[in-house]
Amino acid sequence: MRTFRIAPSILSADFSCLGQEVRDVIAAGADIIHFDVMDNHYVPNLTIGPMVCEAIRPHCKGTPIDVHLMVKPVDSLAAAFAKAGADIITFHPEASEHVDRTLGLIKDAGCKAGLVFNPATSLSYLDHVMDKIDMVLIMSVNPGFGGQKFIPHALDKVREARRRIDEYTAKHGGEIWLEVDGGVKTDNIRAVAEAGADTFVAGSAIYGQADYTTVIDAMRAELAQLR
Ligand code: DX5
Ligand code: ZN
Repeated sequence: MRTFRIAPSILSADFSCLGQEVRDVIAAGADIIHFDVMDNHYVPNLTIGPMVCEAIRPHCKGTPIDVHLMVKPVDSLAAAFAKAGADIITFHPEASEHVDRTLGLIKDAGCKAGLVFNPATSLSYLDHVMDKIDMVLIMSVNPGFGGQKFIPHALDKVREARRRIDEYTAKHGGEIWLEVDGGVKTDNIRAVAEAGADTFVAGSAIYGQADYTTVIDAMRAELAQLR
């Protein structure tokens, strides 16, 4: 039986009452809080930093915070987010001068670490670092904004990532989560899971509706059809 995780992205939440938005989505059944960090340099948008992570931490009550760094350079902010209470920190390999070192510093700070792949980024960045990876994140939109359309070609990438993860864990053990981010909705989540993902980021699909429980339940009902 596969384990699936729903990770609402607070990028689409109401920032004027973020603590409440985090509590509401957890009460609605969120497994993880996805936290999008954009720097107006690596991506053309500016969002939230470590202070906001620290501020929402007490509202999460044990639900992991999944920090997706869309920033360049990576290392100093990765360290700051580890200190601010992040549980998982992922970054884009093109944004780090030394991918192995960045993964190492995230792990040494006690967090889970992962790499994020843009639609045009090769999975070959995984070749020599699987031992340091807890999560692979496949972007199904170009990073920078919520509410974009799912790029269907991402499904091939998810299948290839699934193959690499299964091959590695069969040989070496351990657990590596496969997350998909961008344009995930109730009507395509099952296809994304069929391609091999186990963790689903959804921003506008969840926060764009009045009743978060209804959306998350509908997503789980779709996933349940796979079991
Ligand atoms: C995009 C972000 C996503 C975004 C997803 O750069 O990384 O996490 O919030 O939003 P939706 O689900 O609306 O595509
Ligand atoms: Zn994200």
